[in-house]
Amino acid sequence: MKINKICCIGAGYVGGPTMAVIAKKNPNLKVTIVDINEERIAAWNDSDVSKLPIYEPGLAEIVAETRGKNLFFSTEIDKAIDESEMIFISVNTPTKTYGKGKGMAADLKYVELCARNIAKVATTDKIVVEKSTLPVRTAQAIKSILSNTGSGVNFDILSNPEFLAEGTAVQDLLNPDRVLIGGDSEEAIDRLANIYGSWVPQDKILRTNVWSSELSKLTANAFLAQRVSSINAISELCEHTEADVNEVAKAIGMDSRIGSKFLQASIGFGGSCFQKDILNLVYIARSYGLHEVADYWEQVIILNDHQKRRFSDHLIKTLYNTVSGKKIAMLGWAFKKDTNDTRESAAIFVADHLLNEQAEIAVYDPKVSKDKIQSDLNYLNTRSPEENQQLLQSKNSPYEALDDAHAVAIMTEWDEFKTYDWEKIYKQMKKPAFIFDGRNILDKAEMNKIGFEYYSIGK
Ligand code: UDX
Ligand code: UDX
Ligand code: ADP
Repeated sequence: MKINKICCIGAGYVGGPTMAVIAKKNPNLKVTIVDINEERIAAWNDSDVSKLPIYEPGLAEIVAETRGKNLFFSTEIDKAIDESEMIFISVNTPTKTYGKGKGMAADLKYVELCARNIAKVATTDKIVVEKSTLPVRTAQAIKSILSNTGSGVNFDILSNPEFLAEGTAVQDLLNPDRVLIGGDSEEAIDRLANIYGSWVPQDKILRTNVWSSELSKLTANAFLAQRVSSINAISELCEHTEADVNEVAKAIGMDSRIGSKFLQASIGFGGSCFQKDILNLVYIARSYGLHEVADYWEQVIILNDHQKRRFSDHLIKTLYNTVSGKKIAMLGWAFKKDTNDTRESAAIFVADHLLNEQAEIAVYDPKVSKDKIQSDLNYLNTRSPEENQQLLQSKNSPYEALDDAHAVAIMTEWDEFKTYDWEKIYKQMKKPAFIFDGRNILDKAEMNKIGFEYYSIGK
């Protein structure tokens, strides 16, 4: 059976770009992305592609090329399930905020709802593909829900974790290091491999059992996050010695066993995956009684929290131990450049800490909306929405945010920040004018020459 129609439940940061690239590379395949969120689907269907709900370089062009031809966005979930031979589940799996495993385990309610929906609607055989990051053995749960429908429909379950990073999603999808497919049915794996095979060489398509595939996704994210925490731990040591973390990163990165990527010291990692997946790994390890394993990985999160906290502590200490009533400009709110995603962004935690110290914050981010910034803060429940709105304002231009500020904190490594007229900014700011560069993107010598007091990470 050749696959002619597929659908993806969940039109988010993973489902959107992944399906757009699959559609582009398989013009004969009808690809429908469905979501319960009507507003989001309407934004994906907006005739102005600059209004798509997620920002990713290169994505708008692909959507413009494929939408209405073989790529469709819809809220008609049942219809899409019914007509598709293959269904991807790409819904969110946030950390649980209630009950058993609160703050640690993944909340699988959205995945389970999808499985139940598929079970209810399907009248013909389906291949169900888990795309969301899921705890090991989730496929078993999906299988159990699907195989007990009594409808006689056969379901094959595959695990096909996504390794794209936001900000480079399109490039990562077009040139993946590997595509991983876990499953028991060779036939089902072949069908999915064929879809990727229209642009990914077969030797990059790995086949494993379902559990290895699920665990590989968690492990990959844990290893990546661990590298960031490792270099961030060394950055603190550098600040107390005469070492420079960039020099150390370069020196160790040239060892081919270590490698040069992902060694950028920072204000701490954010994003929807790293923290969630490690917490998940820790929870799973503990649930098997593997406490040493759990403690080992938990330390990656502890160090990351410490890195965010020590950035704001240092800022406060340097501003003569008080930021009360002082204007602090924040450049960047997204968790990394080239995305409008703010989930777990270090900026949120630093802002919250500074607001507790009664700072007044002005934020500028090239892609994050004012509403998103306020809702990120409100979500923490530290103070009322009215207070947040009063104390933290978003500005339409960096110069507005920086005007009359005591200090600027660089939270995201957006390229445009490097190109600003820093002499003009210096003139606009209160003196002494401080820069806290949480991403090490500016040149210290140059900033000192202009007159700034410049601090970065790990120097
Ligand atoms: C190490 C560093 O590799 C080297 O750069 C430094 O100069 C000295 O320390 P060495 O201890 O000689 O070298 O050997 P290495 O190959 O690093 O192995 C160290 C230990 O790790 C061995 O017991 C090895 O069996 C073990 N190991 C290494 C693993 O268990 N798994 C691996 O994947 C790699
Ligand atoms: C990550 C994985 O890279 C990706 O493979 C997986 O599919 C999803 O999770 P993502 O979270 O989108 O992707 O972005 P990533 O580039 O990994 O960055 C995560 C965080 O780490 C960001 O806050 C980034 O700024 C930070 N980071 C990354 C560093 O601080 N230093 C680095 O050297 C690299
Ligand atoms: P990710 O980064 O994993 O893609 P997002 O939160 O960006 O996560 O996207 C997940 C999407 O899944 C959201 O748009 C959400 O509305 C959608 N979703 C969640 N549960 C369901 C469901 N039961 N049916 C359809 N869509 C769902």
